[in-house]
Parts: sequence; C-alpha cells; structure tokens
Amino acid sequence: MDKFLIRGGRPLRGRVEISGAKNSALPCLAATLLTAETVTLHNVPYVKDLITQRRLLEDLGATVLTPELRTHKVTAKNIETFEASYELVKTMRASVLALGPLLSRFGKAKVSLPGGCAIGTRPIDLHLKAFEKLGAVVSLESGDVMATAPKGRLQGADIHFDKVTVTGTENVIMAAVLAGGTTTIRNAAREPEIEDLAALLIKMGAKISGAGTDTIRIDGVDELNGAEHSIIPDRIETGTFIVAAAMTDGELEVAKCQPRHLEAVIEQLRKTGVNIENLDETTLKVTRDRAGLKSIDVTTEPHPLFPTDMQAQYMALMTQAEGTSIITETIFENRFMHASELIRLGADISISGNHATVRGASKLTGARIIASDLRASASLVLAGLAADGETTIDRVYHIDRGYETIVRKFRSLGADIERASDQLTDESV
Ligand code: EPZ
Repeated sequence: MDKFLIRGGRPLRGRVEISGAKNSALPCLAATLLTAETVTLHNVPYVKDLITQRRLLEDLGATVLTPELRTHKVTAKNIETFEASYELVKTMRASVLALGPLLSRFGKAKVSLPGGCAIGTRPIDLHLKAFEKLGAVVSLESGDVMATAPKGRLQGADIHFDKVTVTGTENVIMAAVLAGGTTTIRNAAREPEIEDLAALLIKMGAKISGAGTDTIRIDGVDELNGAEHSIIPDRIETGTFIVAAAMTDGELEVAKCQPRHLEAVIEQLRKTGVNIENLDETTLKVTRDRAGLKSIDVTTEPHPLFPTDMQAQYMALMTQAEGTSIITETIFENRFMHASELIRLGADISISGNHATVRGASKLTGARIIASDLRASASLVLAGLAADGETTIDRVYHIDRGYETIVRKFRSLGADIERASDQLTDESV
C-alpha cells in the first residue's frame, strides 16, 4: 500500500496549475449516457475516481476514447446493460449518478445501493424519493436499487428536497431532461458543479433554467445530441493549495482556478491572515500575513457558504493560528477523523459532537499517521509540510481519488515529499 514520506518545514514557492473538478467531471461523464452521439469532455482530472467512472461507462457498453490524457470522448450508442455493479459502487459511491441518465434514456436502471463511507452513512433516500415523484417504480432487491419507468418514460414533476443534496440534485436533473413535461426542483444544491453539469446538458439540447440557484426548472425534450465541454477547475484543490501556502509561510501563484467558485473560502481565509491577491481572472497570489495567522470560527454549510470539503484543510490551518477556533461540521456526521492524526503531530484539538475546538498555535513534529478519507488525507499532507521532521502518511490511496499528481505538484513547489510503497518487492529483499 502506498504511503507518503514528507520532510516538512520548507516554505512552498512557485506556481501551481489547478486541475479539472472531480465533482463536476463525475456527473458530466454520467450525462454522456443520455445520448447515442459522441460527447467530448476536456480538462477531466487524471484521478482515481474518474478512472472508475470511465470503467462504469465501459461496463454499461459505452465507448470511451482518450485522445489526450484529460480528454474523454464518450459514445454511449450501444448500451447493453443498465446496471452499475457492486464492485464499482463500493469503490466509488458517485456511481449512483448512473441512475438518473439510465432511467431517463432507457426507462430502467439497477445500481448497487452504495454503502456508507468513512465520513458518514451517506444514504440516497432523497434521490429515490425524487425518482418516484417522476413516476419511477423503485425497489430494493438484495442490496440493489431497481428503478423502472412503467410507461417507458418519466413524467415531469414538482420535486422539493428536504435536505440539500449535491448528487441528488444532479441525478434528478439528468432524470428530468428526457422526461415528458416540466420538472421543478426546489431546495436544489447550488454548487458550481451543478451549473457546470447544466451547461453541458444545455449544449446537448436540454432545456434547463436556474442551475446555481435553489430552484431549477427542466423542460423535458425527446432526445439529446452530442456536445463538447470543458470541465471547470477544482475549487477544493484551489482552496487546498491556498492553505498550503499559508501553512508553510510560502508564496504561491495558484493558476487556472476560478476564484468566484470559492468566495466563502477566500473570505474566511483572508479573515485568518492569509493574503490572497487576484493577479488576473484565473490566478491568485497567496502569502501569509506578516502578523501571523488568527483563530477564526467556521461552520460548514451548503454552497455558497463554507464547504464541508474544505473543513479538514481549514482545521490543519487553525493548528498554526494564535488563539482558539471552533469548527462546526453540519453536513456529515463523522468528518473529524483527521483530528486524531493532527493531534499525533502535536496539534491541540478537542471534539464534542459536531464541534472541534482547535487551540493554536501548535508546533507540529513529524510522526507516522494514517489517512482516512479524501479530504482528511489532504489535511494531513498540509500538516506534514508544516511539521518539523519526517511525517509518514499511510493509506494515501484516498488522496489519489481526488488530487491529480499531488506529489509532483508539491515537489515542483519545493516540498520534500515522496511516494513510497510498503509492498514487499524483489528490490526490497
Ligand atoms: C457531494 O457528495 C460531493 N461528492 C462530496 O464530496 C461533498 O462533500 C458533498 O456533496 C457535500 O458538498 C460528489 O459530488 C461526487 P450530499 P453527496 O448528497 O452528493 C445527506 C469529496 O470529498 N443525504 O450533498 O453524496 C448526506 O448524508 C466528496 O469530493 C441524505 O440524507 O453529498 C449528507 O449528510 C466527499 N439523503 C448531506 O445530505 C440523500 O439521499 C449532504 O449530502 C442524500 C444525501
């Protein structure tokens, strides 16, 4: 199993280019199932979850060509099966995004019910209730979700989500684009990834308005065509590198990003003493204020407020800030597992329910730690980069799911980080 070896205490300097957004590329790849024509997606990040999503499309019968590493040309002409297998879903719960398109275009879909993951139970009850409102018959059979449209085609409906759900909103948009009649989604998720998916679908001929707001209207059409689209930059990777610059007291240019997608993150980090300057539309310059970092409370909320996917990285930053900060996690029930690993490095953190109290600034010293989930892994890398001495992070496969060539990017900025494997190999004996 791979691990990272980091020798910390070196300020990061230089320019880093942000990759395409994993959480936009995943629904956009699923959306290619909605047409028999070729859909070309550019700026698809080269990360594990997208390799899994590509395999899912191919298992369903689609053809996926990659003329360039980050370009996927998908033709879902000969779809022979309508089932996302347990093997795939258990490795990546976002495979449930196949439900909406398969149900919409073929009137049937079978997807293994995703298990929970490290950060929470992560049910999909809201997705399924919405499909039923669109006329689908949904049943659970030995761990699989079966959904069929009795009349072969879903019917538009008024959907109100009791809770904001990102992939739930995406699944319903994809189900509704080929339904008969109009669908309105209320209390819809407002993430930039929703807007990006809608932009692709509109290029394919869908009739969608209101994406990015809490009310989305979709007028169903009879079929969709091929299209070409470039995935938006990853706002969470952007936030992660901004924090990296501040934690190592370096100076970074973060390029090919989209600052308006992470306004709440930028605003919060500026309050703590991170200097973030707009060099141009897609480039930020980041340094730490000479006065040092200040402890500021934060609560995670649905977009456009502070995202849960930046909570772990923010906690790492607060260990280096003077004073006490309280971090409140409102989206997932178990998303503080990075805290115990940060404590092993010397942080002073206490957890009570969905509140984490961080007392800083702590001197971090390298140690052996273990990654638990994607964003927790990122926070541990950031802490390792700031710590004195050597930090070893095990189970880094988590980070490979959502950060493209993370070691190469950090090394190009002067970090002393390398990937090592603890697999026994001929060379190791
Ligand atoms: C998406 O997950 C992201 N994943 C997550 O990013 C992100 O943390 C999350 O949105 C919140 O922003 C992708 O986009 C692939 P939700 P999703 O449905 O859609 C509850 C990462 O690090 N809920 O918005 O699964 C749920 O349990 C990942 O890249 C229900 O109760 O999240 C959670 O408490 C991690 N029933 C809350 O709603 C449902 O049917 C928000 O979940 C659906 C969700």
